[in-house]
Amino acid sequence: MPQNNLKGIVLAGGNGSRLSPLTDSISKQLLPVYDKPMIYYPLSTLMLMGVKDILLITTKRDQALFKNLIGTGEKFGIKISYEVQEEPRGIPEAFILAEKFIKNSKVVLILGDNIFYGHDLTTQLVYSASKNYDATIFAYRVQNPSRFGIINFNKENIPTYIEEKPKSSKSDFAITGIYIYKSNVVKYAKKLKPSERGELEITDLNNIYMKEKKLNVEILGRGIAWLDTGTFESLQDASLFIKTLEMRQGLKIGCPEEIAWRLNYIDDRKFSNIAKKYVKSPYGNYLRKILRESN
Ligand code: G1P
Repeated sequence: MPQNNLKGIVLAGGNGSRLSPLTDSISKQLLPVYDKPMIYYPLSTLMLMGVKDILLITTKRDQALFKNLIGTGEKFGIKISYEVQEEPRGIPEAFILAEKFIKNSKVVLILGDNIFYGHDLTTQLVYSASKNYDATIFAYRVQNPSRFGIINFNKENIPTYIEEKPKSSKSDFAITGIYIYKSNVVKYAKKLKPSERGELEITDLNNIYMKEKKLNVEILGRGIAWLDTGTFESLQDASLFIKTLEMRQGLKIGCPEEIAWRLNYIDDRKFSNIAKKYVKSPYGNYLRKILRESN
């Protein structure tokens, strides 16, 4: 069941400094991942969860570019509002910036550079969001734990604590960039102190919930792909992954127009108009093709 009471945040701030000079003049989350801007993927994940009210947090510099691309969200049949994160002061700052947006709602935050793909992924996310936990996070096995927040488990497989980018770690389970909280997250985020790198840490926030036994940890299984786009290599790998699947199936991954149309947020006419706008691009051809096939 789609979560109509669930609000969404896409966090697309940051300097993207690990991708300079690509990011010297444009936000990382607007860079292409194969045939579409990176932000389309996390946006699609939220749309597939049934989230229709979304706050997009960007840098001040790039807000206008995001607005050019996505606008009010009307073309995707959803509502997009905007907020600026002046400096990269950490993921939890998003909740403080979003206080008025969140009000009393449950909220799902997704990082603007995180790509999730897999059968039954949406079902798992929606089901997790429907449970009555204060906080839910998603862990995924990775080969390079030192790049992520890593969750440790005791012998009974009960989560014990999360460590941010540990130099060495017994656990290989990274905390992915999608997090679900009740509205009390704003209060908790406000209590955090900046870490040594000068940021509020999502790991600190989740450790508080864990200590208070209010944290639900879900495992994303091996049938799911969680891709990261933080380095030249991983960005290229993500593009190739998307390209491979799209070329094989003739179906697109992370196409918000298609999702909006399939979920009946936009009708055939509106969908067709978008397809016409992209007439010279294979993206537009694709939209036209799936519309034709449905009639
Ligand atoms: C952030 C979080 C980390 C998490 C990762 C997921 O790291 O701090 O806990 O595992 O996102 O993408 P960043 O890559 O922003 O430093």
